[in-house]
Amino acid sequence: MDYKALNATDIKYFENFLNEHQIITDKTSLNKYGRDYTEDLFFEPSAVLIPENVNEISQIMKYCNEHLIPVTPRGSGTGLSGGCLPVKKGIVLSLERFNKILSIDTENYQAIVEPGVINEDLQNKVQAFKMFYPPDPASKGSCTLGGNVAHSSGGPRCVKYGTTRDYVLNLEVVLPNGEIIQTGANVLKNSTGYNLTQLMVGSEGTLGIVTKITLKLLPYPSFNTLLMAAFDSALDACRCVPAILNAGIIPSALEFMDKRGVELSTNSHQIGFDTNQGNAYLLIEVDAFDADYLMPQCEKIYEVLEQHNVKNILIAEDAATKEKFWKIRRSIGEVVKKLSIYKEEDTVVTRGNLPEIYDYINFLSKEYGFDCICYGHAGDGNLHVNILKQNMSDEKWEQELPKAIRLLFEKCKALGGTISGEHGIGLVQKPYLDVVFQPIHFHLMKGIKSIFDPNNILNPDKIFNN
Ligand code: LAC
Ligand code: ZN
Repeated sequence: MDYKALNATDIKYFENFLNEHQIITDKTSLNKYGRDYTEDLFFEPSAVLIPENVNEISQIMKYCNEHLIPVTPRGSGTGLSGGCLPVKKGIVLSLERFNKILSIDTENYQAIVEPGVINEDLQNKVQAFKMFYPPDPASKGSCTLGGNVAHSSGGPRCVKYGTTRDYVLNLEVVLPNGEIIQTGANVLKNSTGYNLTQLMVGSEGTLGIVTKITLKLLPYPSFNTLLMAAFDSALDACRCVPAILNAGIIPSALEFMDKRGVELSTNSHQIGFDTNQGNAYLLIEVDAFDADYLMPQCEKIYEVLEQHNVKNILIAEDAATKEKFWKIRRSIGEVVKKLSIYKEEDTVVTRGNLPEIYDYINFLSKEYGFDCICYGHAGDGNLHVNILKQNMSDEKWEQELPKAIRLLFEKCKALGGTISGEHGIGLVQKPYLDVVFQPIHFHLMKGIKSIFDPNNILNPDKIFNN
């Protein structure tokens, strides 16, 4: 596809309906919009537009579609697969001013939000009404709900509550040609034709620009208990994960951390925590509407932990200790980023296969000589594998490592899983998508893309090559 390079005439056109502060072209500011949290990648856009209402987006899209100018939507840039990077230059469309919670419906347990609302802001806002929005990515304090919709983001609570997808009821979307549509209805049940709402969720900004999101809410479970279990053997920790659920408990979080991840996070934030308690940890939370339900759940979990050679169990007695344990877990990704250039794989297998995938990661790390840190949402079988570059030569990093990653993903597939549980395909996982999809899948996905975006201007070259 031959795209048109953005020029002064295009900028002049945008100036007709956007104010000066909504159009960014200076190098220093463009720099910030050329990066996200993915590795060390950088793609400078030609301009950034910051619309303030849906009609402005519609007008921008219509023009860019007619003039073949690529448009890449962006939330707050916390993505981990390069989804918001403008790889074909053109315009970055920042949704940062779409930051309003439009309504909270306490009767129907719904919220209508704009895509630039920060995940945690919504959580806090609805909690004041005793309502609950569960999806909680590690970056919840800075990631936007629009970005969460784009990737169907997850987080620790998914094991009990599901991912973003499970909360999206309806969307307002601007199509690449500028048309504005509702994808569904604000109802809990909907058997009306193809589910365009769910097609948009996880489409990584390649099919339309989400401008309004109707989300389902739950009653807030006010009580929880948090346990940190230390194991000598990471494999014992992995084996314990399905056993907890098999004992009839659905924890509200069931996270795995290897010793290295815990050490890095603890040291980096000077958290008072003895990191010599084990070689692997499970962070287990149970929640309830009534405090009396917590202890019986914990007792069952204790039993299962004991059966799996747990070495030590710490119970977070107070809010400060809970906060401390969660900080250890939530900071791992960010701390690894400071340590070295890295690649983050978002493997997901059936949770019964966690020991197998963990074993295989260790085998690959020895075979290919890489150092890695494993942590993540064990209850979902979703293990993040952060592979560190450190002293590895550029040649090995670029030529050899992708072979190991491909083998890792092939193993995920063989174990009933896939190559991304919650970070998306974006740019960096694109070369591996053929591990799980056959030509017919690509044919179907490309067909869908071309119906929504026949000129291929919206977030081009993401998920698959256009
Ligand atoms: C986490 C992010 C990396 O779970 O998904 O910390
Ligand atoms: Zn995660």
